[in-house]
Amino acid sequence: MNENKSKTLFERAKKVLPGGVNSPVRAFAPYPFFVEHAQGSKMYSADDTTYIDYCMAYGALLLGHAYPDIAEAVKNQLAKGSLYGAPTEREVEFAELIAKSSPCMEMLRLVNSGTEATMHAIRAARGYTGRKKIIKFEGCFHGSHDNVLVKAGSGATTFGAPNSLGIPEETTRNTIVVPYNDFEALEETMKREDNDIAAVIVEPVLANVGLILPKKDYLSYLKKITSDYGAVLIFDEIITGFRLALGGAQEYFKVKPDMATLGKVLGGGFPLAAFGGKKEIMQNISPVGKVYQAGTFSGNPVSATAGFTILNILNKKKNEIYPKLEKNCVELKKALTDSAKAHKVQAQVYNIASLYQIFFTKEPVTDYACAKLSDTQMFTTYFHELLRQGVFIPPSQFETCFLSTAHTEDDLKHTINAFDKALSKTAKEKTS
Ligand SMILES: Cc1ncc(COP(=O)(O)O)c(C=O)c1O
Repeated sequence: MNENKSKTLFERAKKVLPGGVNSPVRAFAPYPFFVEHAQGSKMYSADDTTYIDYCMAYGALLLGHAYPDIAEAVKNQLAKGSLYGAPTEREVEFAELIAKSSPCMEMLRLVNSGTEATMHAIRAARGYTGRKKIIKFEGCFHGSHDNVLVKAGSGATTFGAPNSLGIPEETTRNTIVVPYNDFEALEETMKREDNDIAAVIVEPVLANVGLILPKKDYLSYLKKITSDYGAVLIFDEIITGFRLALGGAQEYFKVKPDMATLGKVLGGGFPLAAFGGKKEIMQNISPVGKVYQAGTFSGNPVSATAGFTILNILNKKKNEIYPKLEKNCVELKKALTDSAKAHKVQAQVYNIASLYQIFFTKEPVTDYACAKLSDTQMFTTYFHELLRQGVFIPPSQFETCFLSTAHTEDDLKHTINAFDKALSKTAKEKTS
């Protein structure tokens, strides 16, 4: 047994990595478990513990860990080289497959992360419209670049303020933050800004403040109002892409934006993302146009091979994969809802496709402000008890849980049992 190996590793890590981690979401008290290996639905820690994983690398692993076909394809590619700095046939066939799968993607460019994808999509929209300002929504996360790291202020329709040190006010002055699901607030902002908005960027389903679903017709309203005011509508589908359906939220809600960003699932577990959309916008990207964008690792053959492999699988098996994921997710949602009721825990549970989350609050959650009313202490108790029961979920109330095709009936049974124990403990600690 290696009971304390994670603790020891964390102490070492803190000396060389800020907070002991390479991305802040991975840190939780007293210390995160360190992963030794993973397979299918499970992660195995350095302490010899096993977890059923509902984080799935923050949604990236739709087919679970170490999916054999992807591992095999990548191994074959590695033997032929990992990076060329020159184009390959693989990039072309992969881009063709993305364009076929994602409704708005007439043209696209491959990049390495979701952050890069949204940054370049916004630049493309600004270049195309010749305008500076963008609108984003409270609680939407579009990666960690300067333009979009603006949190909800009290005056949601006024100019945003940076929520990270190191971002100049001059940058975020051009980012306007509006509450999600609020038709009037957006309408007023568009009117006030009088054709000065280059782009409206949105997570079609909010999955970075827990899980928040769009109100009926909200996404088609976004389409209409952006079109009325000549702004580019960007769906950030880094999470919803290939999760809600093969064609993401665009297919699920039947709304086609001007541009979209894809990532996570698209890379088959490797660093890869894409931005794209209408040809008339994408044709402004260098070298054909004057919007500059470049990347040493963009479209590298290893990531492109992993992505091409998973997209082929999803195209072939979509009629089997998506209904099964949804059915399993509905089962987990029902179990959580029933347990919360049984233990008299005030909670809201939401799900869509293979995403679900519980909020510890008595009111429905329709936007960021509602989500922030949740009892995060209760969530922490729930999270730690699940962990004790061998179930790993993202450690924050303001994340979302993800299923994969690797989760088995036995996994679900174990999880449902763990939910009940975790909610029982949460209820007891709340009243004590
Ligand atoms: C909706 C959304 N957009 C963009 C990003 C940034 O992606 P990456 O972490 O690959 O830079 C994320 C990451 O979680 C995301 O959830």
